[in-house]
Amino acid sequence: MLFDTHAHLDDVKFKGETDEVIVRANEQGVSLIVNVGYNLRHARQSIALAEKYDFIYASVGLHPHDAKDGDKSFWEEIYKLARHPKVVALGEMGLDYYWDNSPRDVQRDVFRQQIGAAKDLKLPIIIHDRDAHQDVLTIVKEEGALEVGGVFHAYSGSWEMTKEILDLGFFISIGGPVTFKNAKKILEVVEKVPLESLLIETDCPYLTPDPYRGKRNEPGYIKLVAEKIAQIKNISYEEVASATKENGMRLFGINPL
Ligand code: NI
Repeated sequence: MLFDTHAHLDDVKFKGETDEVIVRANEQGVSLIVNVGYNLRHARQSIALAEKYDFIYASVGLHPHDAKDGDKSFWEEIYKLARHPKVVALGEMGLDYYWDNSPRDVQRDVFRQQIGAAKDLKLPIIIHDRDAHQDVLTIVKEEGALEVGGVFHAYSGSWEMTKEILDLGFFISIGGPVTFKNAKKILEVVEKVPLESLLIETDCPYLTPDPYRGKRNEPGYIKLVAEKIAQIKNISYEEVASATKENGMRLFGINPL
């Protein structure tokens, strides 16, 4: 049984097909999904999805791309939404110095504020980090995010950085890129990281694994990620599936049904 810890099933690319995509995910063995909201609209849509399906949970937060929209009314609304019983995390949040869609100082401020909110709400955090490794780690430490814990999603860092993350007690989440033919750095990370610190995700509709790369991603494809990790770590697929599922349940406080 598989846990896709990071999906965007409310994305416009699934429009009119969400239900059948979810059925296909179940057929592939996916039994838990966290649908990640990254602005107010997607936070509300994630909660709506979580209300419709008992095995889907939601997170709410503000993506670094949208950090410039984090005004007072946003924070009031986020606190309300985060108290919904199916909201299991805050995020995705973090820093994106690749696209720089919001000014970097604003991204950093909003990231710090969200960690503060997560501590108030006692929810773990889902971190988006692109080309901002050092600043992300500094803020995570300075803001005391260890208190709530969390995950570095769609992880693409080096083994050096991974060691720092593991020391903080955070999880790393592996997605489709581990299956790419040119994957290199991430193979070393997956080989060395202890199974108890690992989560898996699709980040669908993005980051589609091989052999479907270039097409729309969906939660059912997470099986390919788990199979690849099993191959790299030289353990069974079942072991990867059950460990990553249990890790996710522990981090997000999801109890067995
Ligand atoms: Ni995402």
